[in-house]
Amino acid sequence: MGSTLGACGDLNRNVLAPAAPYTKKEYAFAQETAENIASLLTPQSGAYYDLWVDGEKIMSAEPPEVTEARNDNSHGTNFPDSPEPIYGTQFLPRKFKIAVTVPTDNSVDILTNDIGVVVVSDADGEPQGFNIYVGGGMGRTHRVETTFPRLGEPLGYVPKDDILYAIKAIVVTQRENGRRDDRKYSRMKYLISQWGIEKFRTVVEQYYGKKFEPFRELPEWEFKSYLGWHEQGDGLMFCGLHVDNGRIGGKMKKTLREIIEKYNLNVCITPNQNLILCDIRRSWKRPITTALAQAGLLQPRYVDPLNITSMACPALPLCPLAITEAERGIPDILKRVRAVFDKVGLKYNESVVIRVTGCPNGCARPYMAELGMVGDGPNSYQIWLGGAPNQTTLAKCFMNKVKVQDLEKVLEPLFYHWKRKRQQGESFGSFTTRMGFDKLQEMVDKWEGPLESGSRFNLKLFTDRQTYEAMAELARLENKTAHQLAMEVIRNYVASQENGKAE
Ligand code: HEM
Ligand code: SF4
Repeated sequence: MGSTLGACGDLNRNVLAPAAPYTKKEYAFAQETAENIASLLTPQSGAYYDLWVDGEKIMSAEPPEVTEARNDNSHGTNFPDSPEPIYGTQFLPRKFKIAVTVPTDNSVDILTNDIGVVVVSDADGEPQGFNIYVGGGMGRTHRVETTFPRLGEPLGYVPKDDILYAIKAIVVTQRENGRRDDRKYSRMKYLISQWGIEKFRTVVEQYYGKKFEPFRELPEWEFKSYLGWHEQGDGLMFCGLHVDNGRIGGKMKKTLREIIEKYNLNVCITPNQNLILCDIRRSWKRPITTALAQAGLLQPRYVDPLNITSMACPALPLCPLAITEAERGIPDILKRVRAVFDKVGLKYNESVVIRVTGCPNGCARPYMAELGMVGDGPNSYQIWLGGAPNQTTLAKCFMNKVKVQDLEKVLEPLFYHWKRKRQQGESFGSFTTRMGFDKLQEMVDKWEGPLESGSRFNLKLFTDRQTYEAMAELARLENKTAHQLAMEVIRNYVASQENGKAE
C-alpha cells in the first residue's frame, strides 16, 4: 500500500519496489518484502489515525513475523518500554529511504537509497536471500563541499528470514550514531563516509547478532521503463503510460479517470514519474489504447526518447526550496536538446538521461543523470555530467551558473564531439567521463558559434517557396530550424494516425 504516513518525518519515509505488477516469484517476493519492511518501520503512534481518520485504524494488520521482528530485543536494538520500540522518543537523525528490487531491474534507482535490497534467487528462481547496499543519498548544499551525493555500496548478503532483523540493525546503527547536531550532515551516507564500510558493518553486526555473508555477484543493472503493453504473468496485461514531466491534467486526467473507473483498474506510480494501469484483460487492450491516444497518452514509440528517460522535480511554484524552474522548464529544455541533436547530426532514436532540479536537494536524482541540471540561481543551473543510462555511476559538477538561455553554448560542443569522437556504443555519460573535464571545458571554450544545420534533406525540395518561408518563420519563433519543425509536424501526424490502430 502506498502511504503518506510519516512522509515528512525523521523516520523511514518510503520503501520502493518495482512498480510493474509482474506475478513472477521474485517480483512478488520483492513487493512483499517492501511491504513488510514498511510495516516494520511504521511509527506505532496512533496520532495519525486520531488526526486524520477519527481514530479508526484503516491500515491492514501486519504479518506476525513483522511484529516479532519489531519487538525482538535480543541484541539491544529496542527501547523496551517505549510505544516506539525502534524510534524511541527521538526518532532518527534525518529522513530515511529504502528500495527493494530484483537483479537487473533498476527502475527504483537502487543506489540512491539509504538502504537498497536486492532479492537473490537460486537457479530455479526460488528466492533465497538478499544483497544489501547502504549509504546512498542525493541531497547536498551549494558551496559546501563537505556535503555530497553518494552511491550506496555493498554491505553484504543475508538469508531471507533475516532481512527484517538486518534492516532493523542498520536503522538502529544510524539512530545511535548518525549526526544530530547539524541536519546538513545527518543522513546515513555521512556516517558511512566518515566510518568507512568496514567499521559500519562491524557495528551493524552487533545489533544484527550475526555476520553478514559476502555480497552475491549480480548481473548488470538495466533501466526499466515498463512503458507500453506487457504480460503480467497471470493472463492479464499492464500498460505503462509515459506522463510528460510527471504532470497529469485536463483531458488526459479526465480520460484516465474514465478508463480506470470503467475497467476498475489498479494503478501504480513509477519512480520515473509515469503510471502503470494494471490487471487489464486482453479484450480491453484495443479500446483502452484508442481512448488513451485520443487523450494524448501515446504509445512509447511515439514519444521522444529524450522525454522517456528525463525527469524534473516539482520546483516552482510548488516547492518552497526551489531556486529556479524544473518541472515547468523541462519541456522547453528537452525541445532545445532535441534541436541541438538534430543540428549536430545525432539520430532521433539516440538519447541521454536528462534530469533537472530547482535546487541542490536533488529530488529528481540529477546526480545520477548523464546530463544533470541543478538550479543554482534564478534561471541558472549547475551542469553535472557522467551518470550512466542504467543509473550506476555518480555525475560530477562540470560547470556552475549556466544561464538557461545559454544552454546551447555548452550542449552544442559536447554533443557535437560525442557524435564524432565516441567509441562504438559509448553513452554520453561514459564519453564525458572518458574525456575528462579539462578536455570538455576546452571543447566548450573553443566552440565557435552554432553549426550549420546537419540536416541531410533540403525542405525546399518538398515545398513551394511560400510554404517554406512560412515554415521558416514559424520555426524561427520556436527557436528551431525549418527542417526540425517539419520533422516534428510529420512525426506528430504519423503518431496521431497510428495510435490506437496497433493491436
Ligand atoms: C515539493 C516539495 C519538496 C521538498 C520541500 C523536498 C525536500 C527535499 C530535501 C530537503 C531533500 C534533501 C534531503 C537530504 O539531503 O537529506 C530531498 C531529496 C529528495 N527528494 Fe524531495 N522534496 C520535495 C518534493 C519531492 C517529491 C515530490 C519527490 C518524489 C516523489 C521527492 C523525492 C526526493 C528524492 C528522491 C530525493 C533524493 C534522495 C535523498 O537524498 O533523499 N521530493 N527532498
Ligand atoms: S530538488 Fe526540487 S522539489 Fe526538491 S527541494 Fe529542490 S526545488 Fe524542491
